[in-house]
Amino acid sequence: MGKAENSRIALPVGSNLDRFIMRNQEGFPFASGELSQLIRDLAYAGKVVNREINRAGLADITGAYGAENVQGEAQQNLDVAADIRFTRALKKGGEVAAIISEEVEDVIDLNNPRAKYIVAIDPLDGSSNIDVNVSVGTIFSIYRRVSPMGSPVIKEDVLQPGKEQVAAGYILYGSSTMFVYTTGKGVNGFTYEPSLGEYILSHQDMKIPKSGSIYSVNEGASASFPKEVKDYIASCKERGYSARYIGSLVADFHRNVLKGGIYIYPSTEKAPNGKLRLMYECNALAFIAEEAGGKATDGSKRIMEIQPTSLHQRVPFFVGSKEMVKEASTL
Ligand code: AHG
Ligand code: MN
Ligand code: MN
Repeated sequence: MGKAENSRIALPVGSNLDRFIMRNQEGFPFASGELSQLIRDLAYAGKVVNREINRAGLADITGAYGAENVQGEAQQNLDVAADIRFTRALKKGGEVAAIISEEVEDVIDLNNPRAKYIVAIDPLDGSSNIDVNVSVGTIFSIYRRVSPMGSPVIKEDVLQPGKEQVAAGYILYGSSTMFVYTTGKGVNGFTYEPSLGEYILSHQDMKIPKSGSIYSVNEGASASFPKEVKDYIASCKERGYSARYIGSLVADFHRNVLKGGIYIYPSTEKAPNGKLRLMYECNALAFIAEEAGGKATDGSKRIMEIQPTSLHQRVPFFVGSKEMVKEASTL
């Protein structure tokens, strides 16, 4: 079966995620099923987080947690709750040797030395939007460890460039909750049906339009944007494009995948390397963008080629429709 055919597995829209993952695995005769189980674990934890987000207005779980994460950002209660839910699900699942999380300073060794996968996660993206009832998300990347199974996890296991991802995805907790992921054979999106407790295939083989007329950038900081970015934004305005910026990366990205558009978080005076994190945000969305026919750069280099040097490293991020990202960056 060719790549394109295989990504369009013979399942009708409406199939559930578990069945889809199972059928996907049949395409790899020697697959042990561990990656499939790991994706199911993430999807399950997503259901639990979804439930908490939907109760957020009533339960006492909105607001600030009262601490800062390693990056000096105020943690919200739900940041911490989501981090716990995902870590717990992955620990129990047994397929993951270590997790790196935006919310935790160091590598979380799950003491599963026989496990072969590493997960990088932003448990709750856009968390400052929780208190105002706006969409938030979860972003994840999955890597295969490079050190031998059975030995302790090493730095090289967790600091792999994005091109080594074996799978990546996001969960969007929006007007509907969606689970979108890729294992390198196209991108598929599943909408959560709460009455069934199931994710149902709703967006098969997602493709981002080659170009679009939406630009998403926090223009409040534009005085200190690089000149090329200022020029690009000016050209978007001349062409009458729409500005759309939710402030939850997952939601901004998802809209642009469906409609065509570009998301930019450039370097600014306050944030010389931009704000977004290579390991928890950019690599996963870059993989999905490319699998959907789009593009992701840091302004001059392909995101997935960047060799990370530290867990919480930030990079400028240009992602979305291929033609638009080409025009806005020098790659
Ligand atoms: P997080 O909540 O995981 O820290 O991420 C917030 C990110 C991202 O979701 C969003 O696009 C960006 O921060 C918004 O930043 P600005 O408020 O600087 O525009
Ligand atoms: Mn984030
Ligand atoms: Mn976050």
